[in-house]
Amino acid sequence: MSNATESHRGLSMRKEVGRAGLAVVVSAFVVGVAVVSCNSSDTTAPQIEQLDSSTVATGRDIFRWDTFGDEKYWTDTLRMHEVIQAGVSPATALSVGLRVDVDSLPVAVRTALAAGQVDLNSPATTVTLLKLNAVVGLKGQVQTVNGRDTLMRVGITCALCHSTVDNSFAPGIGKRLDGWPNTALNPGAIVALSPAVSPAVKAILRTWGPGKYDPRTNEDGQSTPLVIPPAYGLLGVDKETYTAEGPVSYWNAYVAVTQMHAQGSFSDSRLGINIVQTPDLVTSKLPALRQYQFSLAVPKPAASSIDGASADRGKALFSGAAKCASCHSGSTYTDINTGRLHAASETGMDPRYAARTSSKAYRTTPLRGLLQHAPYFHDGSAASLADVVDHYNQVLGLNLTAAQKKDLIEYLKTL
Ligand code: HEC
Ligand code: HEC
Repeated sequence: MSNATESHRGLSMRKEVGRAGLAVVVSAFVVGVAVVSCNSSDTTAPQIEQLDSSTVATGRDIFRWDTFGDEKYWTDTLRMHEVIQAGVSPATALSVGLRVDVDSLPVAVRTALAAGQVDLNSPATTVTLLKLNAVVGLKGQVQTVNGRDTLMRVGITCALCHSTVDNSFAPGIGKRLDGWPNTALNPGAIVALSPAVSPAVKAILRTWGPGKYDPRTNEDGQSTPLVIPPAYGLLGVDKETYTAEGPVSYWNAYVAVTQMHAQGSFSDSRLGINIVQTPDLVTSKLPALRQYQFSLAVPKPAASSIDGASADRGKALFSGAAKCASCHSGSTYTDINTGRLHAASETGMDPRYAARTSSKAYRTTPLRGLLQHAPYFHDGSAASLADVVDHYNQVLGLNLTAAQKKDLIEYLKTL
């Protein structure tokens, strides 16, 4: 996993295109309007981004299907097309967290699957699924060679890490849930299947585990893997990522070019990265991609799973005695829009990941869909919401009673 061969020429700061703060694109079809930063402690003016339905639809296609030409890496460098064709059965693919989009399957295939007539232990079945464009986030080009379906090229899309399925058909097979982090996906184990990766790097990749990925290992050689976060619930959040690297399109470009190895350009003088590729298949797609991400709403838990009275008491604690709202402020539950960042020691976090970034500190994570995406904190150090509350109880010296802890957890479940 190295892009050391790619050019890191010159140092020039990339400017975000069409940055929010100016109201963005309004057209006849306004599908969503949000007013954010309404918390009185916020010092910034309210920002409004209006979503245009046709741009959102374009962005959805990019998010789901666009490889930005990254086949040059996943095929030409990593040779994943050979790995899949030779040895990745659907059973293996599902076990490393790959997901199957049931809506892409013709009725005959669904019927055969349901009847147990599909061989899930044959790599040829995986090739068929790729031919049907049914593997979430993995795009294959299949051709008939000597009468046999052959995987010629393969690439990845944003959906690989940031979508999952609802398991409505079978475990790992169902309808797409875009923006939901794939907590089962094991990107390290997948890349480690490549014959092009050195044994030393494979050993690192295999330590990451499901639901985690380190977006800097190939840049700095270190490894402190991050929990794959949701891409939903970000409308109105000024800066994205655990360490507030920049607005959403900054990060999308970083990941596309330096991690997915897309055919595109990305520069950041803070990181000493200046990759210029022509044609650039990334930059022009960022505005639509951003609109799609901003259109992704936070999944809400079933009301029946929440004890309402307990959650109400927890809400009062959250903004009162437990001090949570002093950082998790405003409608998105983060103080990042006021420009605040937090040293690792403020919340008792492991400082190592932040030390590798340009900000050196952590952003207060916007709280959204918490029930959907355990574990918590950038490194997954809290396995459950109970662990989160215990962590703060200790670090902030809150002295919460058992009943108060339960109320706070109940409230967090509603966010
Ligand atoms: C290999 C897995 C992987 C792929 C592919 C991937 N991401 Fe991510 N994404 C991550 C990880 C890990 C992070 C956490 C990085 C951080 O916060 O520092 C992240 C962070 C993000 C965030 C920030 C969320 C937040 O809480 O602020 C957004 C938005 C995002 N990705 C969107 C995308 C888009 C759009 C694409 C396609 C261009 C993409 N990602 C491709 C793994 C991936
Ligand atoms: C001093 C500021 C501060 C206070 C006070 C604070 N938080 Fe946080 N919170 C943060 C930061 C910073 C992070 C990101 C830490 C990381 O990922 O390592 C975070 C992360 C979280 C997360 C993880 C979200 C995710 O998706 O991974 C939860 C849940 C959370 N906080 C809940 C709370 C609760 C509950 C309280 C009150 C008991 C609280 N926080 C108090 C700053 C704060």
